[in-house]
Amino acid sequence: MNNSFLILIFVVLCSVRAQELPLFGPGPELFPGLIPGPEVLPPEGDKGVTEQVPITGKTVEGEVPVIYDAYFGKPITLKRRNFLDNVLNGTILCTVAVRPCNKKEGRRVDGTCTNPKYPSRGAEKTPLPRLLPAQYGPGNTLRPARDGSELPSARFLRTSLLGDGYFRDHHFSTLATHFQVASAADNVDLLYLLRYTIVSDCCLGNTPNRVNPLCIPISVPEDDPFLQPAGIRCLNLTRIITYQDVGCLPNSLPAERYSIATPLLDLGLVYGNTELRSRLVRANQGGLLAFRMEGDREVPNGNSPLCLGNSANETSCYNYGDDYQANLLPGIYLTTMWFFREHNRLARRLAKINPCWGDEKLFQTARQINIAEWQYIFYYELMPEILGRKNALEKGIIYETDGYVNDFDPHQEPGVIREYIVGTRWFHTYQPGRLDMYSKKQYQSSISAPLLTLRSGYLANNDSEAQLTEGCYIQPADKFDDYVLAPDLVQRVIPRLRASDVSATDFMRGRDAGFPPYNHYRKFCGLKPAKTWEDLHDTIDPDKVEILSRIYDEVEDVELMVAIYVERFIPGAFLGPTLYCIMVHNLLLWRQSDKFFFEHGGFPAALTIPQLNQIRQTSIARVLCDNGDDVKHIQPAAFFRQGPWNTPVPCQEIKGINLDKWRDRSCTRRK
Ligand code: HEM
Repeated sequence: MNNSFLILIFVVLCSVRAQELPLFGPGPELFPGLIPGPEVLPPEGDKGVTEQVPITGKTVEGEVPVIYDAYFGKPITLKRRNFLDNVLNGTILCTVAVRPCNKKEGRRVDGTCTNPKYPSRGAEKTPLPRLLPAQYGPGNTLRPARDGSELPSARFLRTSLLGDGYFRDHHFSTLATHFQVASAADNVDLLYLLRYTIVSDCCLGNTPNRVNPLCIPISVPEDDPFLQPAGIRCLNLTRIITYQDVGCLPNSLPAERYSIATPLLDLGLVYGNTELRSRLVRANQGGLLAFRMEGDREVPNGNSPLCLGNSANETSCYNYGDDYQANLLPGIYLTTMWFFREHNRLARRLAKINPCWGDEKLFQTARQINIAEWQYIFYYELMPEILGRKNALEKGIIYETDGYVNDFDPHQEPGVIREYIVGTRWFHTYQPGRLDMYSKKQYQSSISAPLLTLRSGYLANNDSEAQLTEGCYIQPADKFDDYVLAPDLVQRVIPRLRASDVSATDFMRGRDAGFPPYNHYRKFCGLKPAKTWEDLHDTIDPDKVEILSRIYDEVEDVELMVAIYVERFIPGAFLGPTLYCIMVHNLLLWRQSDKFFFEHGGFPAALTIPQLNQIRQTSIARVLCDNGDDVKHIQPAAFFRQGPWNTPVPCQEIKGINLDKWRDRSCTRRK
């Protein structure tokens, strides 16, 4: 693998994102003489450096930021700074500048002060907390099986346990998958994809490269049911980007994921993850995000260079706050477009109601309402359907109240749990492989979803945005509980590669993350660790257990990600017990560690109770009516399929937010 090329790609990528950070500085492997030792850890008693370190674009006039160590979450120590000075771009890549938290302010774009007790947590570069400590092989290599041998081929596991085909779900619409994948892209970055889709080939000559430590290719059995005729024996894959890669940590510490998205449900896709980026996408008047008209569609400026999938005639690539993630997959760019427009719709309405408000006040208020809607729809409309409403109520994920829910816990550090972001890949199971296009209730055509990767320019083709939008609330999602995935996702999810299997990759990411065996999570989640194969019958059907027992040497070798894919659903929910347990932990963490979660009160920037109760009036159907291209009729529960209980109604009949609750009486007095 050509490391300089890799670094170049990431530096270019970051500069075109107009972020101030080159993402991919060389890791310790590029500095053979620099083998960091325990001195990287903040020594006890070192009070840290609080003088200003110049980090461009992060400061607001007159405020002196404190420089935090991104990984350790503490003000940076002198020793640590000396160490980072020796790593190329170390101070930029491994630190977070935090302006003093201010009791009066609201949510910051850069995620700092999300919990003032841990001010740098919630910013980009926040490490992903884990439910259980990582287990790697020596030098952070992939963990072997208990007897020291390599774990079975992820592709073999996938083809043995899960089939492929097109089966429709009875409940969910494709819109649910769009919203869910956008929620994932809101809190981690997927830049590591470029490592193996553009930069490196770990399957040169069809042979898995086992020498390069960044390569984790998936071997394909000779008799693979689909790839055998083409003679493909290897699926290209590289490891995820870690603090070790960028030089912040030595390899002697467990490999931890490095991500430059704020790990929160904060619409970073729309607003960006840094203050600089947010300033670049603002119109600086009327509280608006910069926009232009593409035909009769309001869209962001469209000259981002990241849409590598655009065809020659597709010229738009939208300048969102996070213009790599937000242009990545169709579900993500449609959803981001709706919430981009929702911001401007809110800002215009607020400006009418409160003519004395200036740009900043309008922008921040529209942003606050928009994020509150985003969180409300995720927590109250989508999650209860997946986890089960009764379960979600019992666990304190949602509440039946018309008041505040003050469950902010200052002892919880903001972040997204590693097991959550890897585990929820299981929802690939309900992603249709082909997206249907509809116009005026008539089916027009379908397009393979992976062919729309990094291709938001497609939306501007004729009526494509309108047709994909209508298609997604009419088209059923793929079936949830059938152990079958769409061929488009498991045979060639990455069109640039000859073959790629999203679920086999999901299994590999569990290994890449160093997750302990499934049995450890069974214990963590209150199930009995399995001693025999039969002990697994409480969560996995006997025929699947039988297949597992043929592939793994012992029950202790069964992996978390594989088990998540084959566990039976718990009552009232659309997922098995372990993923349920993981999701509950993460959803509680998000709401409890985030001072600005929309239901929290008791601080100056909080929504008032009447405002909060307006947020509770909205729905994804309302968001589409207001912002979807040419949406006039929609079913009220739009995450669900249309049917006798959920027939489309005119948009006028779908309730929404009354912005009068944001009326500022002082504007009238001033008049
Ligand atoms: C057009 C449909 C989709 C495609 C083509 C797609 C493809 C991919 C690919 C290629 C990856 C990265 C593989 C790797 O690790 O190297 C990925 C990651 C992921 N996908 Fe999907 N996906 C789709 C829909 C969904 C949906 C509906 C969800 C629902 C939650 C989802 C959740 C995730 C998550 C959570 C990750 C991991 C994110 C991370 O670790 O950074 N995806 N997907």
